[in-house]
Amino acid sequence: MKDTRSNPEIKKFAGTAAARLIEDGMVVGVGTGSTIAFLIEALGRRVREEGLRVVGVPTSFQSRLLCGKLGITVRDMQDCASLDLAIDGADEVDPRLDLIKGGGASHTREKVVAMMAKEFVVVVDETKLVPALGTTFAIPVEVIPSALAFVDRRLRDLGGAPSLRMAVAKDGPVVTDNGQFVVDVRFPPASDLRHTDLDLHRIPGVVETGLFFDLASKALVGGGSPGSPTLRTLTRTA
Ligand code: A5P
Repeated sequence: MKDTRSNPEIKKFAGTAAARLIEDGMVVGVGTGSTIAFLIEALGRRVREEGLRVVGVPTSFQSRLLCGKLGITVRDMQDCASLDLAIDGADEVDPRLDLIKGGGASHTREKVVAMMAKEFVVVVDETKLVPALGTTFAIPVEVIPSALAFVDRRLRDLGGAPSLRMAVAKDGPVVTDNGQFVVDVRFPPASDLRHTDLDLHRIPGVVETGLFFDLASKALVGGGSPGSPTLRTLTRTA
């Protein structure tokens, strides 16, 4: 489910810039994905070179491993009820800064961490900007395995076209860090996804969706070309 259009140099530029938002003493939610991997690298450098004291709260096993490798102190999500800041990538960002997340199957933890934080900032390259959610990406829905057939039927009843996400270097479905499956659901264009999200949450067996409404206050957007990258900051208006 990962995108292939983004340029890693632009992601690196944006991820590195996002690391500068982190201040000494902060407890910070650290998202998941290739853009966030660059943020973690830059944060690790700041810890080593500036003596920055931060605690990272990773949203995935992958981010936890990388933080540990780069000398960033980590704390388990389960030991936190609030955070100073959370920074994460996204798969789609609309003009209101609502998001689709979950291309890396970590959206459930990512949503908890985003809501825990006093401020949630998203960092992306400009290929992630869309006029409306669902333009390029399906909606990831985390589902408990035993409810798969039932949830599949209910998703179709809602007008969706569900597809169980399959693993690439393993036979069978993707299994999330929570031990669940991910179903990617396409809804017809111009669907009211806020309403759909409420419907999805009413289905027993659905753990969480990758729709993030009203959570990001700011988006750092990398653009330009690899030799001459640019950064702009978008702020939520309403
Ligand atoms: C992880 O589940 C996702 O929500 C990621 O934040 C999202 O897929 C962005 O990933 P990249 O930075 O790798 O594009």
